[in-house]
Amino acid sequence: MKTALITGASSGIGTAFAQELAMRQINLILVARSQNKLYQLAEKLQHQAPIKVEVIVQDLAEQQAAKKVYDVTAEKGLSVDFLVNNAGFGDYGAFAQRELPRQAEMIQLNIVALVELTHLFLSGMQQRGTGNIINVASIAGFQPLPYLSVYAATKAFVLSFSEALWAENQGTDINILALCPGPTDSNFFKVADFPDSFTNKNNSGFTSAKEVVKNALKALENRKSNTVPGGLSNQFIVNSSRFLPRELLVNVIEKQFRS
Ligand SMILES: NC(=O)c1ccc[n+]([C@@H]2O[C@H](COP(=O)([O-])OP(=O)(O)OC[C@H]3O[C@@H](n4cnc5c(N)ncnc54)[C@H](OP(=O)(O)O)[C@@H]3O)[C@@H](O)[C@H]2O)c1
Repeated sequence: MKTALITGASSGIGTAFAQELAMRQINLILVARSQNKLYQLAEKLQHQAPIKVEVIVQDLAEQQAAKKVYDVTAEKGLSVDFLVNNAGFGDYGAFAQRELPRQAEMIQLNIVALVELTHLFLSGMQQRGTGNIINVASIAGFQPLPYLSVYAATKAFVLSFSEALWAENQGTDINILALCPGPTDSNFFKVADFPDSFTNKNNSGFTSAKEVVKNALKALENRKSNTVPGGLSNQFIVNSSRFLPRELLVNVIEKQFRS
């Protein structure tokens, strides 16, 4: 039986991954900081499907967090066939007015932990000759986003990094996918401190976390390097940098995102 490790499994897209992979009878390792939410989810999923669910409570923004997670899986004798690097957050506002430690924490979680977990678990997958990795990027990774400047840059990193690894692993049984959702129903906008007026105005266009996950798993099966779930508006956004001058594009976005 296969085992998947999902970071950020306590909420939103991560919980939706856990639910969908449980239905496919894949054992799970759930990682996040919210201990109660993780244990409640583990109990529920083990009632719904004949699988084993392990919980690792870990702040992935801490130094060496990825190694600690890896060591726990090794101590328990678990081999990870499927890694979902999903944990991440954004921080809305003009860069200089937001707190610097929060930006550093974001880079540590969205980039450093993701790179380290990928390195630690990909080696084992390559030795076994098989594996799947989904790295959650965003449509924010396709162009700069004023007022989410660090966040968009972290997602550009995740997209570029994942596509490069996809190419490195072509011709093997290892699939690597950059999942690039647009606005999705989750706690993301609350955690990122978006004004309510922004989410109230736009939430009719949000995609459900379940739909995002189904799209990702289909793209993985089709061995795609990236996927953009959701409607035409998301496709328009990710392609706009191809036909609009970059300065014009970033100015248009600046006006849309200014509070
Ligand atoms: N929602 C969107 O519109 C959207 C669009 C594009 C991409 N994304 C990306 O999708 C991913 C999932 O976000 P979401 O939308 O599902 O948001 P969410 O509901 O806020 O979930 C974020 C998850 O990340 C975990 N997390 C946050 N900080 C962590 C830390 N320091 N250590 C360990 N886990 C941590 C949270 O768990 P704990 O708080 O329990 O630690 C939670 O499980 C993120 O990478 C996000 O950037 C979201």
